Amino acid sequence: MACAAAGGVVIVGSGLIGRSWAMLFASGGFKVKLYDIEQQQITIALENIRRELKLLEQTGSLKGSLSVEEQLSLISGCSNIQEAVEGAMHIQECVPENLELKKKILAQLDRIVDDSVILSSSSSCLLPSKLFAGLVHVKQCIVAHPVNPPYYVPLVELVPHPETAPATVDRTHALMRKIGQCPVRLLKEVDGFALNRLQYAVISEAWRLVEDGVVSPSDLDLVMSEGLGMRYAFIGPLETMHLNAEGMLNYCDRYSEGMKRVLKTFGPIPEFSGSTAGKVNQAMCMKVPDDPEHLAARRQWRDECLMRLSKLKSQMQPQ
Ligand code: NAI
Repeated sequence: MACAAAGGVVIVGSGLIGRSWAMLFASGGFKVKLYDIEQQQITIALENIRRELKLLEQTGSLKGSLSVEEQLSLISGCSNIQEAVEGAMHIQECVPENLELKKKILAQLDRIVDDSVILSSSSSCLLPSKLFAGLVHVKQCIVAHPVNPPYYVPLVELVPHPETAPATVDRTHALMRKIGQCPVRLLKEVDGFALNRLQYAVISEAWRLVEDGVVSPSDLDLVMSEGLGMRYAFIGPLETMHLNAEGMLNYCDRYSEGMKRVLKTFGPIPEFSGSTAGKVNQAMCMKVPDDPEHLAARRQWRDECLMRLSKLKSQMQPQ
């Protein structure tokens, strides 16, 4: 397969996340080379991207100022890793979440890249100190963790290795902003990064409330989708505190005792198995049967909701 001209961004692994990154970078006007160990995956990814971009255009959700054809012309496949990375300024690794596999690919890239490219991993939960250990170009390495589906959910967590150069973080931050994503900097690595730590805190208390018979699984989900989630799409938990009283310090004065009292009653880490798992599963399957067709249809509906929400958010300029 012929490779595009040197420069721009290289995506290593053209699965679900690799394709999304390719679309985002092209929307920002960057040349993208898609590499995969499976030639067939590259072909499927290119077809899938063409279909997706056309659909986005039809629904008025295409990102960036370029037309579909212009964006498509920026994306090409490349089955030779050495040629793919020649002259690249940013490499986004998107192979499956397996430490040994990622380390192998990163070591391979480390041997062939120059001193200026950024080596970025999409890893959801592998620590940079493990991923990038021993690499010559460790200063140029960073985790840029997207949220699924990245085209509609703009957050990207930037997580440095202890030896990552500040310039690497700054450059990746600027690049993410350029393609319309919302990067946040973790100042040091921590297991689960920030998003999954928050998510797991919510999931574990949700599980305990169901396990303790306080609320049904379907009502529990409503507490988030019809309650907390309504505001969390616009303001975070800390700003919520600030606005729910006469400022943050007033909130702490008024509510810290109550918060600590309730927090002391939180139970241990759930097992996520046994009869509670059965009960939650039954409730979820009543709502969305767990066969591939129903799950795919519900995911499509979720993505449509996220697309509309992201349009609304772009119209609602912060005051
Ligand atoms: P996927 O399984 O859809 O795609 C992985 C791709 O990597 C496949 O096309 C596969 O052929 C390719 N690959 C495997 N070995 C390779 C190699 N040696 N060289 C080049 N390509 C190779 O995986 P997905 O879901 O796209 O995940 C990729 C990364 O993104 C993972 O680290 C995952 O944790 C992370 N991520 C995934 C999210 C999700 O919701 N799926 C969300 C955020 C991050």
